[in-house]
Amino acid sequence: MITASLRVFINLINFAPEWALHLLFVKPYQCKVITLPYYDLFSDPDKFNAKKAKNAMSNNKTLDAVAEIFARFAHYGNLEYGESVTQRQHALQTACLAEHEGADTLLIAATLLHDFGHLLHDEDIADRGIDAVHEELGALYLERYFVPAVVEPGRLHVQAKRYLCAVDPTYFSTLSPASVQSLGLQGGPFDPAEAAAFEALPHWQAAVDLRRWDDLGKDPHMTTPTLEHYRSHITTGLKAGAS
Ligand SMILES: [Fe+2]
Repeated sequence: MITASLRVFINLINFAPEWALHLLFVKPYQCKVITLPYYDLFSDPDKFNAKKAKNAMSNNKTLDAVAEIFARFAHYGNLEYGESVTQRQHALQTACLAEHEGADTLLIAATLLHDFGHLLHDEDIADRGIDAVHEELGALYLERYFVPAVVEPGRLHVQAKRYLCAVDPTYFSTLSPASVQSLGLQGGPFDPAEAAAFEALPHWQAAVDLRRWDDLGKDPHMTTPTLEHYRSHITTGLKAGAS
């Protein structure tokens, strides 16, 4: 027990020195300021790597795109997505479904990041009645670093729902209650002209494929790889010169 505690403390010094300082100098009752469980940090490789990324950010004041993605999943990934899964579970499940169906590397990265906009804005923005247009917010961030095959399917995934409601008579009945509710806020099913215009967009088919996995990625019991498994998919999608 003492050896294990010492090992955890040495890891804290290396990768989370501010927490080590808390342990040394903060009174026990003040330790509630430490919000992430130590066990999770050192047993979950996603959180471990994200913590290193956060440290790099605080030490160097810069953080590359991939590191920031890991950091944001670590800090906001446990936020509720809704429908009994977290943001992280939903992203991993969607990517996992894409991978199992043989999607290419860039589309798998796109599925993983399609709701990244939810990890960018104020956590209480919905409570304040603001439509964050998360698909556009995420795309605006990602397009600075990633090729269109990673960015555009996510940008279009809300439109893809409206498209599928227009062209697939069975699709609407598969939507969850929350998805039906948001459909109204998003403008409802496309009319024929809107559907035709959607089909003229680059990456529209990838967006439709993503959408179908998106709708299935809400299973609180589904087992998926960790975020680390998808690191290579993400880095493959970087623009030349981005890191
Ligand atoms: Fe989604």
